Amino acid sequence: MQKVLIARPIFPDVVERLRQYFEVDWNTGEVLGAEALTQRLADKDGALTAGDTVSAAMLAAAPRLRVVANMAVGYNNFDMDGFNAAHVLATNTPDVLNESTADFGWALMMAAARRMAEAEHWLRGGHWQKWAYDGFLGADIHGSTLGVIGMGRIGQALARRARGFNMQVLYHNRTRVAPAIEAELNAHYVSKEALLQRADHVVLVLPYTPQNHHAIGAAELALMKPNATLTNLARGGIVDDAALADALRHKRIAAAGLDVFEGEPQLNPALLSVPNIVLTPHIASATEATRRAMANLAADNLIAALGEGPNAGRPPNPVNPQVSGRARA
Ligand code: DGY
Repeated sequence: MQKVLIARPIFPDVVERLRQYFEVDWNTGEVLGAEALTQRLADKDGALTAGDTVSAAMLAAAPRLRVVANMAVGYNNFDMDGFNAAHVLATNTPDVLNESTADFGWALMMAAARRMAEAEHWLRGGHWQKWAYDGFLGADIHGSTLGVIGMGRIGQALARRARGFNMQVLYHNRTRVAPAIEAELNAHYVSKEALLQRADHVVLVLPYTPQNHHAIGAAELALMKPNATLTNLARGGIVDDAALADALRHKRIAAAGLDVFEGEPQLNPALLSVPNIVLTPHIASATEATRRAMANLAADNLIAALGEGPNAGRPPNPVNPQVSGRARA
């Protein structure tokens, strides 16, 4: 029987599915550090990860490993050059999380614009003595301009929701989306600079790559309107968190909503000391149904990539399909 590692606690019924095909080594404890993950991968044919860093050195130390299935759409935790060089297949879990993530992005953007976290902390702190006409005045969402940076499937799901709020939609993306999609979303392609200057609510939904490290830093924040909000649903590292904390403290922008952080689960402490921010622990896809769908899709990928199950040899979501089916050198 082939051996697989499940690197994180996941739904037990998904583990049972994998046990039908494989000898399973399931880590139900703390997140595995690099050394422990290297050891646990060493004798495995496949692995299911959820954001765990998988390096070229780990792949080199795991000569039987043929596939690593990430339970996430993003896979910046994988050294893809290393995967390609070692002929190890990487898979991800796109699409099943689009709508839940877009719902959450909307909630985070609205919470930032309407100062919900700030108001709740104040209320819990026992400060509420009387209603005030100017208590926690925020910014409207309806009728405002949404700026989406990263118009992939989640960005499109976000933009689609803007219709109900009668918003203008601007977007920026590496490549322009098809005219039919632009028309459906009533979305206008603009440069990143124009979007930052014109949008009332900027939402980041682009994948992390070394090229867009700190794509939103002090210079970009300076382009934004003083009453604008910034929401990051994408990945830590796209925003320079220190520059953002500084911009929020000095009210260069009105508010921010962050679900992802540079170096998470550690946070830049400066973010904790500014009031005009909503902070959540990377939960944009966290509904029961969506996380189950992601776990099952990761399992489907693992089972198929290791030549088992009804789709043997045809994993649904290969990231580097050029290595699919190759034996390790
Ligand atoms: C994803 O799927 O990439 C989400 O951010 C969860 O990690």
